[in-house]
Amino acid sequence: MTAATIAVVGGDGIGPEVIEQAIRVTDAALKHEGIRFAWNRLPWSSSYYKQTGKIIPDDGWDTLQKHDAILFGAIGSPDVPDTVTVHGLLLPMRRKFDLYVNLRPAYLFDGVQSPLRDKAPGSIDMLVYRENTEGEYAPIGGRLYPGTPNETAVQTSVFTRRGCERIMRAAFEAARKRPRKKLTSITKSNAQVHTLGLWDEVYRDVARQYPDVQSNSLLVDAAAMDFVRKPEVFDVVVASNLFGDILTDLSAIITGSVGLGASANINPERAFPSMFEPLHGSAPDIAGKGIANPLAAILSAKLMLDHLGHARSAAAMHSAIARVLKEAKVRTPDLGGKATTVDIADAAIAALA
Ligand code: NAD
Ligand code: IPM
Ligand code: MN
Repeated sequence: MTAATIAVVGGDGIGPEVIEQAIRVTDAALKHEGIRFAWNRLPWSSSYYKQTGKIIPDDGWDTLQKHDAILFGAIGSPDVPDTVTVHGLLLPMRRKFDLYVNLRPAYLFDGVQSPLRDKAPGSIDMLVYRENTEGEYAPIGGRLYPGTPNETAVQTSVFTRRGCERIMRAAFEAARKRPRKKLTSITKSNAQVHTLGLWDEVYRDVARQYPDVQSNSLLVDAAAMDFVRKPEVFDVVVASNLFGDILTDLSAIITGSVGLGASANINPERAFPSMFEPLHGSAPDIAGKGIANPLAAILSAKLMLDHLGHARSAAAMHSAIARVLKEAKVRTPDLGGKATTVDIADAAIAALA
């Protein structure tokens, strides 16, 4: 039985390499439940742009919307401007489909060496809730007097009460369901009094409605330090679009590699398909070599299974990955091994069986 139809946008660089392996592992996990997904591969990428002059066809958004979810690799290429790739496909997708929750878990698996000294398996275990539709990423601004000595650039952050409130609420709900019930709100209201002042106010309002959650507010610079100094104190972290982006490369690397960083771009109301992607980029430096770590993509597919209600397959995928990492026999170069992208997926599929 076809349980869901998934739009697959591999994108650029290592994107398609890791996504194909995520599909193989997901297929293997679903097989045990006796179900299957239909994967609809869409070629939208930098090379598609070079052929057609468009990064996504005119009816592309309608096409995407017909799917139950989107599995995304990465977009971005050294020979195509970001205004085409990132601003033509990825960021509009997050806004058009109102994917306001960007969930990015970071967990130190048994068998993986953190670059931080003496960290026990499971001692780093945080969920970052990143606001994904506004904030510092709002495409509001422009250039004045381009190419002259008076050239002026303006880009305005947009923080709305509604936008702050809904990401805060999603994060508090998640914190409430976790054993430690802790939440940290990331701010910089000491410098950005207007936008992050509103963020802090909303944080305090929402916090009052969750007396069972122990929460605090932390300046982003201090948070960056504490992600390194004592990452074990963090449980749920809620941050604006830009702060969440930067902190999650950090939360991924302290758990061993950016190649382990999964993410879910979720519309909790389910008015649109949610989108699942590794948090890393297209990695032009290793693209085509077959050595990218596919685990971030595979863990993102696992988040997709959770979202689509296939908790059993999701749990099976998670334990298979944990086993592969614990055995430490098959690992890609980012984790100190010599295995290929395909080897990791083969090992995960073997662990599933
Ligand atoms: P990147 O994440 O692509 O790479 C940073 C470093 O991490 C590189 O050394 C790379 O080799 C390594 N790396 C990344 N993923 C890896 C994996 N799975 N296994 C092993 N090593 C991995 O970031 P960048 O170099 O700053 O960006 C490259 C391009 O990707 C840019 O065009 C950028 O805009 C784009 N980008 C896209 C997304 C996305 O589509 N979601 C995310 C981040 C960056
Ligand atoms: C990510 C990426 C994107 C972001 C870029 C490509 C705009 O870094 O998904 O983390 O900043 O959101
Ligand atoms: Mn990023």
